[in-house]
Amino acid sequence: MPFERTLVLLKPDCVQRRLMGKIISRFEEKGFNLIAMKMLQVTPDLAKQHYAEHVSKPFYPGLEKFITASPILALIVEGLEAIRVVREMLGATSGLKAAPGTIRGDFSSSRQMNLVHASDGLEAAAREIGLYFRPQEIFSYSPTLTPWFKADDE
Ligand code: CMP
Repeated sequence: MPFERTLVLLKPDCVQRRLMGKIISRFEEKGFNLIAMKMLQVTPDLAKQHYAEHVSKPFYPGLEKFITASPILALIVEGLEAIRVVREMLGATSGLKAAPGTIRGDFSSSRQMNLVHASDGLEAAAREIGLYFRPQEIFSYSPTLTPWFKADDE
């Protein structure tokens, strides 16, 4: 099973609503390693790079206004099949459609203000991690609890 890294953003609504701790806890409790963390203000330029595939969409102006409105927290989450599993933990894009038990399903009732972003594939994860972190800001380590989170052959 692939040991992967994925970029997670706790968006402005998450910071403003004081939900950062709760959401970080979900990833820690699941057994993932948090290997990088940074608070920053997204600029319009960074927003356009990050959301390059959405720049021409009608909702992009609103998305840029939202994502640049207040600081965010960027994280790198690492673990087995982290890219797929983290996306599933987030739930569907719209908080109104996301299943109960997912982060968006439990805490969001909006399509735009959906609290969290996570990379949607290997290529996106590598690209997005590079947008937010320099290599020396990433700290890979083996938590002493690892043997209690998975078998040796997983
Ligand atoms: P995210 O997973 O970060 O990827 C793109 C973001 O654009 C998405 O979460 C939402 O915040 C936002 N988004 C996606 N679709 C729409 C939409 N139809 N209208 C408004 N915002 C959207």
